[in-house]
Amino acid sequence: MASPRVLSGIQPTADSFHLGNYLGAVRQYVALQEGYDAFYCVVDLHAITVDYQPEALRRRSRIAAAQLFAAGLDPERSTVFVQSHVREHTELAWVLMCLTGMGEAGRMTQFKDKSAKYGESSAGVGLFTYPILQAADILLYGANKVPVGADQKQHLELTRDLAQRFNHRFGETFTLPEPYIVKGVEKITDLQEPTAKMSKSSSSPAGILDLLEQPGPLRKKVMRAVTDTGTEIAFDEENKPGIANLLRILSALTATPIPDLETRYAGQGYGTFKKDVAEAVVETFAPIRERTEKLLADEDELDRLLAAGATRARAVAAETMEKVRDRAGFLPTP
Ligand code: TYM
Repeated sequence: MASPRVLSGIQPTADSFHLGNYLGAVRQYVALQEGYDAFYCVVDLHAITVDYQPEALRRRSRIAAAQLFAAGLDPERSTVFVQSHVREHTELAWVLMCLTGMGEAGRMTQFKDKSAKYGESSAGVGLFTYPILQAADILLYGANKVPVGADQKQHLELTRDLAQRFNHRFGETFTLPEPYIVKGVEKITDLQEPTAKMSKSSSSPAGILDLLEQPGPLRKKVMRAVTDTGTEIAFDEENKPGIANLLRILSALTATPIPDLETRYAGQGYGTFKKDVAEAVVETFAPIRERTEKLLADEDELDRLLAAGATRARAVAAETMEKVRDRAGFLPTP
């Protein structure tokens, strides 16, 4: 029997992924290569739903792909590709848009947050239909599992609703995908504002740990992370969100349960603890940064890897889209 499918996407909207992307998503992409037929895409079409520069997008798409390989995606085992290379994504998105209610799309919290930020009138229609393109990304590949952070849960629910609606109306076509959200790392928070999500669009540079950042600034940011009053290293989400976040980070990076860390640091100050968090971050990030730099130094080879990924992705997407066209009542393509 064929292996179950996994698919996820990541936006090339910054010059580096951050710790939230890495722990909440990318690490799971790597782990799921085992036992799954894996598809991972750099979602450049999603990246143009907010203001952007073409040259920056081109650069960031390559940086994003390089980071995925550097973090451990094996081009032999995983299909890593760029969304805009596979035309079927936008084609299926159109069909799904015609099945989506205005109210349904308007309830998406990410759209509400982003349109509030950019102003109701300057937010583009692309921002509004963003989750429907995401649904197309997932459904084209018949993904069973979608590794994401907690912020994507609602988009996954919409994806399932749209799949069910299409199946109900036109006959069994799409697989219903399950979100794969790992507890403990599903929402890494900002180092300066530990109740808010670490995010490339809203965190200040001091609150965000970039995967491609040098050890010096990474250490500095961790040492300056907002902590809470008191001196105890205890996991208390409500009263000590800063320490809770750092505990979650250290636990995930060193595969040590949080209670063990609480015991280890009992009676020690925040300083020793933060130093260990900083070292764990640096130890994880440094080899990935070095591999990313190597991959980016040979752009032709990187582009060849992405071309091979696009060829494999296209074969699957084209087959799904053929079925969709037929079921939805389009004439055969001449
Ligand atoms: P994006 O590019 O914003 O984020 C990429 C992944 O990182 C996760 N993430 C986090 N996880 C934990 N803590 C954080 N602070 C944190 N910040 C980000 C996100 O949940 C995401 O999994 N809409 C998607 C991109 C997308 C997609 C898809 C995902 C497009 N098509 C198809 C899955 C399947 C997004 O905004 O990702």
